[in-house]
Amino acid sequence: MRALNTVGIFLVAAMMASASFAQKIVIAHRGASGYLPEHTLEAKAMAYAQGADYIEQDLVMTSDDELIVLHDITLDRTTDVDEKFPGRAREDGRFYAIDFTLAEIRTLNAVEGFRLVDGEKEQGFANRFPMSKGSFSVPTFQEEIEMIQGLNVSTGKDIGIYPEIKQPAFHRQEGKDISTRVVQVLKEYGYTSKDSKVFLQTFDYDELALIKKEIFPVVGIDVNLIMLLGNSTDYPWMFEPNGMSKLAYSADGIGPSYNLVVDRSSSQNQLQITDLVARAHGAGLEVHPYTFRADPGAMPGYAKDFEDLLNIHFFQADVDGLFTDFPDRAVQFLQSR
Ligand code: G3P
Ligand code: CA
Repeated sequence: MRALNTVGIFLVAAMMASASFAQKIVIAHRGASGYLPEHTLEAKAMAYAQGADYIEQDLVMTSDDELIVLHDITLDRTTDVDEKFPGRAREDGRFYAIDFTLAEIRTLNAVEGFRLVDGEKEQGFANRFPMSKGSFSVPTFQEEIEMIQGLNVSTGKDIGIYPEIKQPAFHRQEGKDISTRVVQVLKEYGYTSKDSKVFLQTFDYDELALIKKEIFPVVGIDVNLIMLLGNSTDYPWMFEPNGMSKLAYSADGIGPSYNLVVDRSSSQNQLQITDLVARAHGAGLEVHPYTFRADPGAMPGYAKDFEDLLNIHFFQADVDGLFTDFPDRAVQFLQSR
């Protein structure tokens, strides 16, 4: 074979670099949570059927050290815990999952997320699944993995998981090492290397670095790690010129709020795409912003509609994937391209 010249080598290298980012992915945020109560197995099965590439699990621990799939460290917003266990709230009035056994949590009905308005329950997204209807439960991490892996067998697909360790510092205060348990479960289910269909995510940089340096080697796995970014003031050093390169020692990607990718003050005529994606890509990091919602009133002013919002982020800002409550819409959008 003829030797490649310098230009040829450069082109091959460029093609290989872009190939690793070529496949844009759809992450079902808390499942197909735009259609069914978040983090129920029903919402996850729907997301799977809608063609999501990855399905997200937020994880917290129970008093008996089980991992459950729940966004908040409290049960208040998404279950009927106040009706089933009156008197079990802490002094702040909240019902913490970590104060309940798994057996107790299994007796709860999981519902569409709500807030209290003048003492009345009012669902957060008025157009979503009716809060007072249905019969759903809070799954364990293992139950959800087994459903997704079972569907992978029965459909022949290979859909990934995208677990988030919720508030690891809170869990440590309560005497629980949630990260080690999550990593052990990943190993038990065969997620062991960067080729495994998993991204493990957290908002806590100290925990992320600990997972990379200590927990992974002790348990014996090394899977993709995603650093979540809420805003630019949480970890200012990450937004300095060499911040992404420093982060790349521990992380494989970032999961920023999409307001860090396209400035919220943008208009349809003047889009302000930040340099975050370019800097992350320059450091070899993937970028998966959150959370894309098609609900009435959820659209930033710079987007004409939900598909325009997806187009701006996927193809103008060039993100590698995104979290959405409406995976069907994002899958259809990418297929249409
Ligand atoms: O993990 C990505 C996204 O889910 C972060 O936001 O609060 O929905 O967990 P949150
Ligand atoms: Ca999450």
